[in-house]
Amino acid sequence: MATILGIWAIPRKRCTQTYSFNMKIYNNPAWHALEAEAERLRPQHLRQLFSEDPARFSHFSLCHDGLLIDFSKQRIDAPALRALQALSGAADLDAWKSRMLAGEPINHTEGRAVRHVELRAGDAAPEEVRQGLERMKRFCSAIHEGQWRGYSGDRITDVVNIGIGGSDLGPRMVVKALSAHQQPDLAVHFVSNLDSADIAPQLAQLNPRTTLFIVASKTFTTLETLTNAETARNWLIASTSKEDAISRHFVALSSNKEASEKFGIPADNIFEFRDWVGGRFSLWSVIGLSIALSIGWRNFELLLAGAHSMDQHFIGAPPDRNLPLTLALLTLWNTNFLGASTHAVLPYSQSLAFLPAYLQQLEMESNGKQCARDGTPVSIATSPVLWGEAGTNGQHSFFQLFHQGGRILPSDFILLGKSDYPLPGHHQKLLANCLAQSAALAFGQTAYEAESGGTPPELVPYKVFPGNQPSTTIILPTLSPYTLGQLLALYEHKVFCLGVLWNLNSFDQWGVELGKQLANQLTPLLGGEGSLDQIDASTRGLIEALTGATH
Ligand code: F6P
Repeated sequence: MATILGIWAIPRKRCTQTYSFNMKIYNNPAWHALEAEAERLRPQHLRQLFSEDPARFSHFSLCHDGLLIDFSKQRIDAPALRALQALSGAADLDAWKSRMLAGEPINHTEGRAVRHVELRAGDAAPEEVRQGLERMKRFCSAIHEGQWRGYSGDRITDVVNIGIGGSDLGPRMVVKALSAHQQPDLAVHFVSNLDSADIAPQLAQLNPRTTLFIVASKTFTTLETLTNAETARNWLIASTSKEDAISRHFVALSSNKEASEKFGIPADNIFEFRDWVGGRFSLWSVIGLSIALSIGWRNFELLLAGAHSMDQHFIGAPPDRNLPLTLALLTLWNTNFLGASTHAVLPYSQSLAFLPAYLQQLEMESNGKQCARDGTPVSIATSPVLWGEAGTNGQHSFFQLFHQGGRILPSDFILLGKSDYPLPGHHQKLLANCLAQSAALAFGQTAYEAESGGTPPELVPYKVFPGNQPSTTIILPTLSPYTLGQLLALYEHKVFCLGVLWNLNSFDQWGVELGKQLANQLTPLLGGEGSLDQIDASTRGLIEALTGATH
C-alpha cells in the first residue's frame, strides 16, 4: 500500500518522463474499434477491396467546390471509415473547432488564440484585418503603378522577401505556384538561409536603386532573418552612400514594431500583424505581401476566397463529407494502425514543386510532438515524416523504393485538370504518368502477370510488384489563386484535426528552441573566444577541426 501511495504522491510528471499514465484517445472504445478494423483489414490487398466493391471510387471520393479527393486507393472500407469518423466524435473535434473559431487561446502554452481563418473571412473579417488588407492593397498599387519609387526616383523592379520558416515557405511556394499569374515588370525573390551563399549571389544580380526588401519576421528576433536583413541594409547603404535610402527600400512585416523600428525601418513602413496569426499559418496575413506584389491584389483576394470556401466547408460539412477531416483520418489510420512512418506529397505540377517543403513545416512543426495538451506523453506515433517531390521527377529517383522497397509509404498525388502552362504534348502524358503510378502502387504486379507479359523466368522475381501502397489523389481543376487557396486551407485544417485527434497543441513549436540556444553558445567558440572545456567531446572535436585550433 505504501508503495502505491508513494506512486500517487509523485508530482505530476511532464513529457520528459517515459511512463504513460493517462486517459488518452487510445484508451477510448472508438480507438479499440479501430484496432479491430485494422486487424481485419491489414491482411487485405487493395486488389481484393476493389474486386469486392467495384464502385469504390464513388464510395471513397469527395468533392467540394471543384476540388476532388479520391481515397479509394487507401486501405480502408466502409466500416473502417465509419469507425474513423466515430473517433473524431470521441476526440471532441466539434468542440475544439468551436473553441478555435470563438478565439479561445487554444495555443495554451503560448496563451494565444488561433485565428488565421478570420484573415480570409472577406466582409465578415474583423475590422483590423480588413484595415490591414486595405493597407496592403494600397501599397501594392503604389508599387505596381510606380507611385512608390526608390531613393533615386526609379521604379521598383525587384522585391526580396527576407524571412524564414513561416515567413518564407508559404510566400515562396505560392509565388512559384502562381507564376502564370505574375505581374509584369516586377520580380519577387526569396532569401532565407543563414548561409551567405543564399543572399550573396542574389544581391550580385540586383540594382540597389530599384530593389525593395521586405523583412518578414513575426518576432523580429530570428537570427537568420536579422543577419540577412543587416547584410541587405549594409549592401544598400554601401552602394548608395545614403543612410536614409532605407526608408524607400525596406518594409517590415512583423508583430514586433519596436524591434522593426530599432532595426531602422520607419514606422510608416511597418505592416503589423497580431500574435494570433501562427507563423506557418501566416501567408494570408501581411506576411503574404510578397505574394500580393507578385500576383496582383485581385489574385491575392482570390487566394483568400479559395481558402474561405474550404473554411466554410470544414466548419459546416458533416464528418462523412468533410474533406480536411477525411485526409486527417487517413493519415491517422496509416500512421497509428497500418504502421506508416512517412507521408509523401507528390504534386504532378512543377509549379507546386515547393508544396512539399511548405507542408513539411505546416505538418511536422505543428504535429511532430510527443507532449500532449496536459503535459503528459502522447505515447503513440504522431506526425509522419512528410516529404515529396514534383512528378515526374520523383519517378526517376525514389519511386523504386515505393514499388519494391517493402515498406508502407502512403502518399498524396496532386494533379491539375488543365495545365497552367499549356503546351502541346505535355499535360496528357503527365496525367497518364500520375495515374499510372498510383495504380501501379495500389495493385502491383504478380509473378503470374509478369510471366504472362513475357518476362524470362529468371527475371520474374524482379518484376513482382507487391502493390497495396495506399494513396489519395487530389484533383484541382486548374492551378489558380482560388484553387490554391482551397488546397492550402485543406491541409491546414487537416493539421488541426490531427492535432485534436492526437490531443496535441498544434500551434506551438518548443522543439526548435534548444538548437537555437546552443548555436548562440557555440558561435563565439567558433570565433576562438571562450573555452571548449564544457563542450561535449564530439562537438569539441568538430570545432577544433573547423577552426584548426586547439583551445
Ligand atoms: O522555426 C521556428 C519559427 O519560430 C517558426 O515557427 C517560424 O515560422 C520561423 O521560426 C520564423 O519566425 P519569425 O517569423 O518570427 O522570424
